[in-house]
Amino acid sequence: MRPIVIAGNWKMNLDLGETRTLLNGILQGVASARKESTHVIVCPPFTSLSLASEILRGSAIRLGAQNMSHHDNGAFTGEISWGMLKAVGCRYVIIGHSERRQFYGETDKLISLKMKKALDHDLIPIFCVGETLEQRERGETETVITNQIRGGLEGVSTGEAARMILAYEPVWAIGTGKTATPQQAQDVHKVIRSLLADQFDSTLAASIPIQYGGSVKPENASDLLACDDIDGALVGGACLKAESFLGIVASANR
Ligand code: 13P
Repeated sequence: MRPIVIAGNWKMNLDLGETRTLLNGILQGVASARKESTHVIVCPPFTSLSLASEILRGSAIRLGAQNMSHHDNGAFTGEISWGMLKAVGCRYVIIGHSERRQFYGETDKLISLKMKKALDHDLIPIFCVGETLEQRERGETETVITNQIRGGLEGVSTGEAARMILAYEPVWAIGTGKTATPQQAQDVHKVIRSLLADQFDSTLAASIPIQYGGSVKPENASDLLACDDIDGALVGGACLKAESFLGIVASANR
């Protein structure tokens, strides 16, 4: 049975004091909100990772980063390596978020290098795909997702791919308050699972958690998480308050 994975992507929000407040709030409520089969991950900005790691030590909450370099080390000003993330206690890293693709020009090729690098070094990538509104309206959703999956996973072996998490985040639903309906999300998740079966095999496709992301809130989480192929949520805005993040964690009921 696939776990439910609820991850909070803090994006470029919260300083050290705010990190402490939010994590303490989450820690206080997580025991009563979380079921055994639900994995809870927080992905604070780089500057908060070390503090978060200290605060979360010994707890059920896992730590992830929002991005990572495809290089090991060297003269790459402003970049952060896999080794730095592991040293600070990260087990997860978000790769290929649409904001990285849109605002920082990340291509499928670059994303595939980051995926390989993370998997080679035992970080679990949360690999993001999703179409824009224009692409959906032109009927290109499936083609876009297919290209992102094929491109982003180029050179990734079945053994490596088996360790990843996938996140479907329609760009038009991110930060807009417009959530995909459970049916719209389920349809794409099903397509993703069959793409994984084609590219790898059906056992792998059945075992990979596929999260939905885009305006997930406590009010819409249970309907989304009730869908057969939706195995969790990648949460932006609603993960910045303990109450709403825990409300989403509590909606996971597998
Ligand atoms: P929102 O939940 O704010 O729409 O953000 C979703 C997201 O991009 C998570 O990675």
